[in-house]
Amino acid sequence: MADYRPIGVFDSGLGGLTVLKEIEKILPDESFVYFGDTGRVPYGNKSDEIIKLYARQDAKFLLKHNVKYIVAACGTVSSVAIDTAKELPVPFMGVVETAVMDAVKTTKNGKIGVIGTEATINNGAHKKEILKLLPDATVCTKACPLFVPLVEEGLFSASDGIVKETAERYLRDMLKDGIDTLILGCTHYPLLSDVIKEVAGDSVKLINTGVSTAVKLKDELTARGMLREENSEPTKSFFVSDRTVAFSRVAKILFGSEINDISVKVADISKI
Ligand code: DGL
Repeated sequence: MADYRPIGVFDSGLGGLTVLKEIEKILPDESFVYFGDTGRVPYGNKSDEIIKLYARQDAKFLLKHNVKYIVAACGTVSSVAIDTAKELPVPFMGVVETAVMDAVKTTKNGKIGVIGTEATINNGAHKKEILKLLPDATVCTKACPLFVPLVEEGLFSASDGIVKETAERYLRDMLKDGIDTLILGCTHYPLLSDVIKEVAGDSVKLINTGVSTAVKLKDELTARGMLREENSEPTKSFFVSDRTVAFSRVAKILFGSEINDISVKVADISKI
């Protein structure tokens, strides 16, 4: 039986678009509703209580759009507020477990780096999950609080000195420790992949949570008999809690003319 309801994807802002892009490549027949909490971003420097409250509201917003599955395309929510899943009437997936499974499969020397927001790294969810699957692993973690503002400012280029120097400083210690795999634990970071690759070098494999999540989501929908069969054009709706230049810029880079200021609607998340 086909399930024609859309998949709901949310993030604190624009980072989740990197995940949606990967999901769409693997599940081109699915419809989506995306919510980016651009009015309250960043989540990564907020308390656990606030992140949990926001995650609950974001999920509730998507449920109003009759979604069949919710993806928290946000490393911070997936680390701190994964319990939100227990309260939901539809299945839920975060981006921590999926990335960890890929990292554990990828590493050859058992030395895995994790970068993310302050809240994600302080929570330690990635490290706990890695050690469950690979108890002898060495896990090197680093909060990278300047990466999100750089992305929001549109500074992603490897040729930009400030971006490169920031990446070098954040990655220095884990590179010295010999990591061969690096989890991009924040969904903003794939936009910095070029510079991170350049700084980390060819011997370090980057794990993009969007790719890992998309593959797992397809498996899950297939196993649950929830795929949408191709008989009509799928739809894509985008909502934000504030219209920001940063969201429009990244949306245009990732989705081109498919998304513009008219197709993105503003939602009042405080009324949820
Ligand atoms: N995209 C968010 C994440 O993956 C980062 C931005 C934020 O701090 O809200 O954690």
